Amino acid sequence: MTTRILFVCLGNICRSPAAEGVFRALVPEARTDSAGTSGWHIGDPPYGPMQEAARARGFDISDLRARQFEAADFDRFDPIVAMDARNLRAIEALRPAGCATRVALFTDYADGAGADHVPDPYYTRDFDGALDLIETCARGLAARL
Ligand code: 4NP
Repeated sequence: MTTRILFVCLGNICRSPAAEGVFRALVPEARTDSAGTSGWHIGDPPYGPMQEAARARGFDISDLRARQFEAADFDRFDPIVAMDARNLRAIEALRPAGCATRVALFTDYADGAGADHVPDPYYTRDFDGALDLIETCARGLAARL
């Protein structure tokens, strides 16, 4: 079965599009998308500084556009991968009754990284630090497919 992975953060302009961009480079045959639990940036491209930091590592994420996470995503993707606990809770709040889709924290795949969430570079301004962790998590996820 085709792997279908959805990456979810708050705005869908920093962490989750970066995660999608890194992961699709590692596993080109996977079906991937990203979404935000907020609707604040619907239709927007990834945040400029995030795009630049990703491009500097060879990841072009300029084609991605933000959208809001919706309950129908539980049928379209498995697993759904959240960037932090707040977003994981927002995802779980929309879980349809009887739905068995896996929802995980991205950092669950980062063996030994000691992180329990991907810090939001929109606030920390540490785009490279976020990408370092995102690359570690993405490699861990790819290894567990
Ligand atoms: P993201 O970061 O969840 O990684 O996309 C954010 C981007 C924008 C906002 C918050 C978080 N915002 O408040 O607009």
